[in-house]
Amino acid sequence: MSDKAFQICINPDCRATFDIGQVIFACPKCQSMLDVGYDWDRLPVPHRMSFFEPRWCTKGHSVEARLDFSGVWRFRELLPFAPYDKIVTIGEGRTLLEENDRVGAQIGMKPKRLYLQYEGLNPSGSFKDNGMTAAITIASMLGRKRVACASTGNTSASMAVFANKSDPPMQGIVFIGSGKIAYGKLSQALDYGATTLQIEGDFDACLRRVRQIADKLGIYLMNSVNPFRLEGQKAIMYRVLQGLDWEVPDWIVVPGGNLGNSSSFGKAFIELHQLGLIDRVPRLAVINAAGANTLYHLYEKESLRWQGGRFDAAKIGGLYAAMDESHYLPHTVASAIEIARPVNLPKVLRALDFMNGVVREVTDEEILEHKAIVGHYGFGCEPASAASVAGLRRLLAEQVISPDERVVCILTGHELKDPDATVKYHTGLDMKLAVPPPATPPTGVMANPPKKVPDDLDAIAAALGERI
Ligand code: F0G
Repeated sequence: MSDKAFQICINPDCRATFDIGQVIFACPKCQSMLDVGYDWDRLPVPHRMSFFEPRWCTKGHSVEARLDFSGVWRFRELLPFAPYDKIVTIGEGRTLLEENDRVGAQIGMKPKRLYLQYEGLNPSGSFKDNGMTAAITIASMLGRKRVACASTGNTSASMAVFANKSDPPMQGIVFIGSGKIAYGKLSQALDYGATTLQIEGDFDACLRRVRQIADKLGIYLMNSVNPFRLEGQKAIMYRVLQGLDWEVPDWIVVPGGNLGNSSSFGKAFIELHQLGLIDRVPRLAVINAAGANTLYHLYEKESLRWQGGRFDAAKIGGLYAAMDESHYLPHTVASAIEIARPVNLPKVLRALDFMNGVVREVTDEEILEHKAIVGHYGFGCEPASAASVAGLRRLLAEQVISPDERVVCILTGHELKDPDATVKYHTGLDMKLAVPPPATPPTGVMANPPKKVPDDLDAIAAALGERI
């Protein structure tokens, strides 16, 4: 395969390189994580970001026109690992950056300062499609017939649809934890025909198992330890810049689960800076759920830092040992980010270092309230996504972010991914149970339950505050 793209160990004391055709998810020499690296000097890189501008509107049926239609491959010179005619795309990444003053006003931002990046508008309804198009492309280049992932739901939905749409189609194999997946996401994996294995255990257990199974049975692993996934997710940042007329914002705020997204944002800005395509770098805020706050704990409480790649791995080992001993299981209403052992921990430390980042945790109550705010004043999002807006409000209260800074919150998944959480918030009714118990009155400040009205014209008018 191309010698201008390769896999490279992130450990500064190793930096071993490997062909992109080698199926490895950790460095065989030192077990550190791998990046996709490029020999930029031998590649045609544009001199300014506005080079990509006209592609948004390209029409036609050529290979290039098809790639221009994708919000990921529109930026193909910035992830140049695949021949263009081998790329598997389903029109991912045509998402929206919205300036939203109404949400901004609710949380204390000045006008024209808050932007919401709606990744729920992807074909499978979450940001995962950005990375999946890249990972399925390499799987297809390698001639793989089966792909697998562990998932809290969105990765599996995305992988399942891409596996179906590759030519020839691949078998998608999904590992999900018991009782932890939102129905919107489960329904997608089932409908797209993925073989779905429900493992007794949580996401971390599923990920451990799928890595073993993929290794032993020669199935291609699609979780974000696969460095090609992160290549595609860099494009979310390119689109944010495009939405801002190529101006760099002050802050990017993103929920953190397995930490693939935040890691890929760091890599995007490291490379754009290295290539001279941007002159400043935004700050990064990664927001954990309080019930799954490994990164927050390690970064903010134990001051774990990247240290040029020589981070203190003993701190991570110590925390994980303590979790094992106390049989700790993460728990949050934001099931997408209910993860205790995030695999991209080293890479997110690098991202936080380069982007002068901070990490915060938010409670389930804050997540649900801010989800309802985004629903009321925006296009809606799933619970995990709202952690970004809730986290921003905390950072405003702490005066880490000022209300007149330009802030982009990433809304990672579509509102309809988890309708149960929404209905429960507004009505108090738990639809997930086969025989729902009577509703308990909703307590959220944004709660907006349906009104029970008799089948009577006057009563209906009265419920609308009118008289006939
Ligand atoms: N938001 C949503 C909606 C997600 O589905 C996820 C991760 C995240 C945020 C966190 O992103 O892992 O890159 O830090 N979902 C994975 C899944 C774990 O299996 O769908 P991250």
